[in-house]
Amino acid sequence: MTKAVRVHQVGGPEVLTYEDVEVGAPGTGEVRIRQHAVGLNFIDVYFRTGLYKAPGLPFIAGNEAAGEVLAVGPGVTNFHPGDRVAYYYNLGGYASERVIPADKLVKLPDHITYEQGAVLMLKGLTVWYLLHKTFKVEHGHRVLIHAAAGGIGLLACQWARALGAHVIGTVGSKAKADLALANGCDHVILYNEENFVERVKQISRGELCDVVYDGVGKTTFPGSLSCLRPRGLFVSFGNASGPVPPFPLAELNNHGSLFATRPKLNDYVGTRKELLEGADTLFAAVINGKLHVPINHAYALKDAAKAHIDLESRATTGAAILRP
Ligand SMILES: NC(=O)c1ccc[n+]([C@@H]2O[C@H](COP(=O)([O-])OP(=O)(O)OC[C@H]3O[C@@H](n4cnc5c(N)ncnc54)[C@H](OP(=O)(O)O)[C@@H]3O)[C@@H](O)[C@H]2O)c1
Repeated sequence: MTKAVRVHQVGGPEVLTYEDVEVGAPGTGEVRIRQHAVGLNFIDVYFRTGLYKAPGLPFIAGNEAAGEVLAVGPGVTNFHPGDRVAYYYNLGGYASERVIPADKLVKLPDHITYEQGAVLMLKGLTVWYLLHKTFKVEHGHRVLIHAAAGGIGLLACQWARALGAHVIGTVGSKAKADLALANGCDHVILYNEENFVERVKQISRGELCDVVYDGVGKTTFPGSLSCLRPRGLFVSFGNASGPVPPFPLAELNNHGSLFATRPKLNDYVGTRKELLEGADTLFAAVINGKLHVPINHAYALKDAAKAHIDLESRATTGAAILRP
């Protein structure tokens, strides 16, 4: 018997239930792992509330973690007991042990800790594809990153800066502004107090941004469109404040022949080749010192509800982990 945090009915943080679960032996192509650190993500909130639909109830929450291989099933040749591994995978993450398909795992390099691995596979890989694949950020681009002091935000600001971009971030407090400035932002806007569209116009001297990365959603729309130069790209990748409402395509025309996309990680690391390309690039960026991984909060797995309360009330910065 091992421990996991399950959701029996969707709802508030109180539906996260810490309980005993049976974990079977790994089947063909599967691996059983003992988890040392689990990443906390806003997507965990969407599944818990029902905004994103889990395949059924009850389900074990959580989408990224790191740990060591305990046993491998028939047909698994590339992983062995004792290997240090990490993954991004739909649900099942909030657990002390689990079984998972081997092709979802990557090996952790010696210099990457379990804690780093646990927050890099969802957050880090997302930042990798957003900055390298959705839009290829290059020297001289001006980028706007909303929620710049968040888990995705601090990694994105650092990496965009390292790629040579001019980085404008939005944040909810002065303390978060200081953190974002220390993690790659050239300018920070307090979007609860200032009109972020007007500030982006001022900062860019009217030239606006090449790309806007928007994981906030409802409250930053349609302002984000007004921050883009003609033919710029609106990347709507999340809904921390609620989903972006449906809007007429003509809005893209009105704002200057804009492009818009609503990407998700699954579609960028769907093949083994893509997953390894992303993980290799990401781990190299951390090992080379290009990317610092800010893990600013740690909770016991049994306190997952408290972690969700903090995340939803905007009390966290950077990444947070749960310890099984
Ligand atoms: N599409 C993908 O592939 C993908 C993958 C991973 C994550 N995501 C998305 O990326 C976004 C960031 O995820 P994360 O896990 O790193 O979370 P996070 O940024 O650490 O936390 C969310 C942040 O959003 C801001 N926010 C603005 N309005 C909010 C509201 N009404 N309620 C709560 N927070 C609000 C807060 O920062 P301020 O206080 O500074 O405003 C808060 O700290 C989420 O939307 C997530 O769904 C998308």
